[in-house]
Amino acid sequence: MPLGSDSLFPPVRRRSYVFITCFVLVAVTFISLLSSSVWNIRPSPYLPTGGSQETWSQNPQGEHDPYHHQYFLKGPPTERFRDNLLPNVKYITSWISAGWTNDVMTYINLIYLGFLTNRVPIVGMFTPSHIGGHVPPINFGDVFDVPRLAKALRLPVVEWHQVKNLTHGDLDELGCWNLWEAVQDREHMARRSSVPDLLKLDISYTTAPTGIKLIPRYEHDQHASFSSLAALSFPETRAENLVEPRASPYHAVKLPPDEQVLCYDYLYYVSAHQPFEFDFDFSPAWLFVGQHMHWTAELESITDGYIRRAFGTQEGQPTPPWISIHVRHGDFRNWCEGETKDCFAPISVIARRVEEVKKELLERKGLTVDYVIMTSDERDPKWWEEVTAQGWFGLDHSQTEEIYGPW
Ligand SMILES: *[C@@H]1O[C@H](CO)[C@@H](O)[C@H](O)[C@H]1NC(C)=O
Repeated sequence: MPLGSDSLFPPVRRRSYVFITCFVLVAVTFISLLSSSVWNIRPSPYLPTGGSQETWSQNPQGEHDPYHHQYFLKGPPTERFRDNLLPNVKYITSWISAGWTNDVMTYINLIYLGFLTNRVPIVGMFTPSHIGGHVPPINFGDVFDVPRLAKALRLPVVEWHQVKNLTHGDLDELGCWNLWEAVQDREHMARRSSVPDLLKLDISYTTAPTGIKLIPRYEHDQHASFSSLAALSFPETRAENLVEPRASPYHAVKLPPDEQVLCYDYLYYVSAHQPFEFDFDFSPAWLFVGQHMHWTAELESITDGYIRRAFGTQEGQPTPPWISIHVRHGDFRNWCEGETKDCFAPISVIARRVEEVKKELLERKGLTVDYVIMTSDERDPKWWEEVTAQGWFGLDHSQTEEIYGPW
């Protein structure tokens, strides 16, 4: 999970993170099984703008969907993004700049800030940082079910490709806040990201005040607080903190942070209460956004196929319930200081956690789960033998790239 390459946690803490990761992933699977019926008490801050779109938008069940992106844009993607924005709607956006898991968390933080700032989040694409630049990006909505998310949140979630025609669009100028330079001292620039170029944006950055830091003046952590970023989005605090913007890279324009499309360079390092709080029960980003994210129906169906083949489920039989574990070893070795034996959680420890999850599922949901799936980038056949000796299943990915591409 949150193991950014620029994480400044000391080695001891990092090591415990490797262990924690395994447990968290078991827990995440468990939570995803439970989260289908979530209580939503939040009143909607948005109403359909009405009249802006002729199309009455409906969700796949044929119900009227007031959070459909078309209500929050003028129409199909335009060559300049501003031509598609509704004058009475305010938006918020940001870019990703890490590995895929961190990028998902970054977009969750962005959407959560949508609530705090009373703005419609515009989410970008996922970039193939973990595979290589030759692979095209993937839209957020091709991975996560955005209409379902928006409905659960009662907050519209718009995607950049719906706002702007990214193949034929022009270069747009935009003023954004640079948080990165306010929270750390090593890099004297806004956080690097490939997303603005993909969106054809020419960004002029205004450095945010260092007061946004979650732990004031503490150089060993680089989190900003959600509330300070929310405050920066409102006119008074914004005005108090305006400094000379930096010239944009293409047109060399200097623009203050945009008032209609609020944007921040990077939102991975944002917390409400303490750094790296995502795996705590109080994490508001998880509580109010993360837990409502579901894979698209297409991904669910591909997954179901892989799982049924692994289990040997007969046609006409339902897929049995399962618990999955993802154990990432590959690059996590770098945090182990040479010796992985005492660094990675052994299978016996994971098995104990799996038993705990099984027990809880039985107690809380009356569900007996017999099937366990392990996914991992570990190549050691001995390790996999230990996995299958538990009666657990692996998935056959020998043809995945051929059929579906690199990701
Ligand atoms: C982008 O613009 C081109 C040229 O007008 C058009 O052919 C294409 O369909 C547009 N793409 C989208 C996603 O609207």
